[in-house]
Amino acid sequence: MIKNVVLIGFMGVGKTSSGRMLANQLGFKFIDMDKAIEKKWNMTIPQMFEQYGEAFFREKEKEMCREIAEKKSVVISTGGGTVKDPENVSILKRTGKIVCLTASVDAILERTATTGTRPLLDSFEDRRQGIIKLLDERKEMYAQADYTLDTTDLSPLQVSRDVISFMKRR
Ligand code: S3P
Repeated sequence: MIKNVVLIGFMGVGKTSSGRMLANQLGFKFIDMDKAIEKKWNMTIPQMFEQYGEAFFREKEKEMCREIAEKKSVVISTGGGTVKDPENVSILKRTGKIVCLTASVDAILERTATTGTRPLLDSFEDRRQGIIKLLDERKEMYAQADYTLDTTDLSPLQVSRDVISFMKRR
């Protein structure tokens, strides 16, 4: 039985766009963790950060990890900070293979240029420096993946083909 695929990685690396494509190709259901949290709590992530703070969001994120890890045959797109909590990693590893997507700072900057959707990035005066700082703080967390793929020059279709060939090799 092929495991779930759990996409981790920084904001803007393509977890959602490639994840959707991957789910399609595998015949799996696609779950976007942020969207699932927004639906369950009936508010957007930026609203949640603003009204209740990041710690509250992280609690809801952990609950969602537990819920989603129970599911079978799903591709899960996590939020960029989900794996900051080691417990989330072990929860998700029980039923899924962890795939980390990466991208260059320039690609991340370009793909996350819209403001108002990513409160953490909006909090930096210098977005590039903010991205570099967060990437550095998180590099060890992202290194916990079973497989890592640089998406800088890849389309979602190319990413999904590559991940499928990794899943088949196992
Ligand atoms: C976050 C990434 C966001 C979202 C929240 C916090 C992070 O998800 O979960 O704004 O800490 O990196 P995406 O990676 O899908 O943008």
